[in-house]
Amino acid sequence: MAKKWVAGYDAGEAIAAALDSNSRGMSAILNFLGEDTTDAKIVDQTVREYLSLMDLIGKRQVRGCVSVKPTQLGLAIDYDMCLQNFKRLTARAKELDQFMWIDMESVKFTEDTIAIYLELYKQYDMTGVAIQSYLRRSASDLLHIAEHGGKVRLVKGAYHEPEEHAFSTKEEVDANYVKLMRMLFESGSFFAIATHDSNMIEEAIRLSNDSTKEFEFQLLMGIRDELKNELTTKEFAVAEYIPYGSQWLPYSVRRIRERKRNLLLLARSLIQQ
Ligand code: FDA
Repeated sequence: MAKKWVAGYDAGEAIAAALDSNSRGMSAILNFLGEDTTDAKIVDQTVREYLSLMDLIGKRQVRGCVSVKPTQLGLAIDYDMCLQNFKRLTARAKELDQFMWIDMESVKFTEDTIAIYLELYKQYDMTGVAIQSYLRRSASDLLHIAEHGGKVRLVKGAYHEPEEHAFSTKEEVDANYVKLMRMLFESGSFFAIATHDSNMIEEAIRLSNDSTKEFEFQLLMGIRDELKNELTTKEFAVAEYIPYGSQWLPYSVRRIRERKRNLLLLARSLIQQ
């Protein structure tokens, strides 16, 4: 099942998927899978993987960039180590004139991730960070980032968080998504609306009619391809998020949990084994 959502094991397969996205009118956002790394050697290998991936994006003339999880770069080990690793990546992104996104992970990393982001943003402004509408704190985080001119990818949030930090019903998460989206259309610099939810997308289109703000839609590989096509046909900027690598399990479990139908597909694929 994971093959639907993951480009393959290596950077070559990820670049092929990115070129395919480009040929369908989208830009590509490449993520080397991995998270919660507590081994400094693996962190170092991950930094090298991203550096060579950025080079490949340049060499193969992919219209796209990378998106990195802070715990891949050592945030679960040491804040400064993670910041230094990110600085290496942003320095290369700057040389290559590429954008770089930072994924947002579970709430225990939110504060540090935003601090790292704002530090990097001073060095290089073609960077952005994900903000999750399920977190109660996100409106104030968004304002804080906007004050610095930072760039946000708005998502609903993919981790299990306790109620003290996160809204628990879809209605509350969606209502907060709309509230944050309105804030972005009012005060954001370039931003991304990252969702597969038609209601959120329709609201974004409505808001864009009265706005000159530059934004793009972002959707994950393997999900709602017909909607991507519809949006590019209407000439909206669309980016496809493409993960690759051997650590496909946690990412795929999050995708399965998001939709009951995916659970049924999983059950069917296991029975057919
Ligand atoms: P929601 O889950 O409410 O689904 C709305 C509708 O979309 C569903 O009814 C269905 O039609 C469709 N849909 C949703 N998921 C589907 C699936 N798996 N298969 C098929 N259809 C599906 N999260 C995070 O915590 N940190 C991050 O950095 C990121 N980064 C990120 C980048 C990009 C480009 C995207 C699109 C998403 C993320 N996410 C993320 C994940 C995000 O938080 C969220 O978990 C998923 O996008 C699912 O939420 P939706 O907004 O799609 O809505």
